[in-house]
Amino acid sequence: MIREVLRMGDPRLLRVAQPVRDFSSAELKALLQDMRDTMAHLDGAGLAAPQIGVDLRVVIFGCAANPRYPDAPSVPDTVLINPELMPFVDEEEEGWEGCLSVPGLRGVVPRWQRLRYAGFDEQGRRFERDVSGFHARVVQHECDHLDGILYPMRVRDFTRFGFIEELFPDQPPPSD
Ligand code: NI
Repeated sequence: MIREVLRMGDPRLLRVAQPVRDFSSAELKALLQDMRDTMAHLDGAGLAAPQIGVDLRVVIFGCAANPRYPDAPSVPDTVLINPELMPFVDEEEEGWEGCLSVPGLRGVVPRWQRLRYAGFDEQGRRFERDVSGFHARVVQHECDHLDGILYPMRVRDFTRFGFIEELFPDQPPPSD
């Protein structure tokens, strides 16, 4: 079911979400289906449960290679529950981001360039991945939602934050 995505300003987006404890529940299955439906409907690259008002540490993300955005490599479709993020070294990279909870806007955000993330899939199996670049950025953006952080809170240079149509009259960059 397609759910309403909360927008920045809604206090539910500012909560620190709770860990999932029961991986076999019907509620978790229904939540993941709703998240997939909602993300696909809005053509997003990622979605966190708090964005549809569910106070759990669940994110999904993924995007296919898009010829319009050769700089954005594909990211595998991933369900990540109770995630942990571990940067390798103190190396940041700036990149444009957007968010379904902040519609119409884009901003440049610094993120760890490379990191390892670990967590659980929808069957409750633990996995980990070492990633970099756009994949690393998407994970950090989505997991921030679980701690009540929206990307504008991480913008350092507000000369590179604004409305998509004004910043990119021709073609906006990829983002979630
Ligand atoms: Ni977002």
